[in-house]
Amino acid sequence: MTIAARKNSHIEVCLREDVRSGVTNGFERYRLIHNALPEADFAGFPIETVFLNKKISAPLLISSMTGGTEFGERINRNLIEAAAALNLPFAIGSQRVYLTGSALADFPKLRKIAGNIPLLANLGAVQLNYGFTREHYLWAVEMLEADALILHLNPLQELIQSGGNTDFSGLLNKIEGLCAGFPVPVIAKEVGWGISAELAKKLTDAGVSMIDVAGAGGTSWSRVESLASGDPSIRKLAEPFADWGIPTAECIRSIHEAHPEIRLIASGGILNGVEAAKAILLGAEMAGMAARFLSAAAEGTAETVCEELRFVMEQYKIARFLSSGIERAETGKRV
Ligand SMILES: Cc1cc2nc3c(=O)[nH]c(=O)nc-3n(C[C@H](O)[C@H](O)[C@H](O)COP(=O)(O)O)c2cc1C
Repeated sequence: MTIAARKNSHIEVCLREDVRSGVTNGFERYRLIHNALPEADFAGFPIETVFLNKKISAPLLISSMTGGTEFGERINRNLIEAAAALNLPFAIGSQRVYLTGSALADFPKLRKIAGNIPLLANLGAVQLNYGFTREHYLWAVEMLEADALILHLNPLQELIQSGGNTDFSGLLNKIEGLCAGFPVPVIAKEVGWGISAELAKKLTDAGVSMIDVAGAGGTSWSRVESLASGDPSIRKLAEPFADWGIPTAECIRSIHEAHPEIRLIASGGILNGVEAAKAILLGAEMAGMAARFLSAAAEGTAETVCEELRFVMEQYKIARFLSSGIERAETGKRV
């Protein structure tokens, strides 16, 4: 199967099957502290923020999913048009397919559709052990005129798929080499199993500017890979990993507590603006969502995606307007 065909089958599986992790994202363990007297005018209540030196409407990010195939381009166009209409940032899925020759011959001019919103490029870190050089990562940024590069870390996904890239040796040093003098900030991101406080520190010491935890509780790639392959032995291998990983809320809380200086994006299973507000109050700067917008983008139009984004933005605004902090649900202890 070509990379492009595999990417399309991933999307089909995400649209049709239950691919949610066996664990929750952990945000149910936290409660926003209700404020019955907000003493502000909701109409003018600000939720704008600055991300990658650009003013955006809310700390919400459309997370990496696709690119490079006809189906992927349609999805991305809808996502980018919606993001541009609402002035929110957009991250493309892995651009490796563009570098393998199996992608569309004509690279779409996504920056033209995007206007001035922050765009994030995306390639796997493990490719540094499989022939990719600094030039490939620079190309990914240039293709999009991107404001940042996401380096995704996906060891479990590579280990479960047949023919995956499984040599992760010496990568931290190579990431450090890549970050040195790189023209845009580099963001290290998991794909749904989370990043620990210890690893977050090593990555930021190596020069990574931000960590997107992409924690457990949302799309489970062991499920996606096993369903996409159709191979019973891959299913059998993947099954016990359905609940693998560090839940998103736990990643954010533990990294922020141990290293408050580390800049964080929360993603992994976030489905609404209330969870996004919890993520921000736990210490993240941004909340990312991927699967949440997939069916709107694949089966609808840019306007369908806009409608979904508006819901999440409004929920986020209400949650922030009405809360005076965050506490552990079990103990009532303020965080
Ligand atoms: C269809 C699909 C494709 C994805 N492809 C990529 C990818 O190419 N690169 C990447 O870094 N993450 C990829 N992801 C992972 C997401 O960016 C995100 O980290 C993960 O799905 C957890 O977020 P969610 O629960 O909101 O989906 C993909 C997710 C989905 C649903």
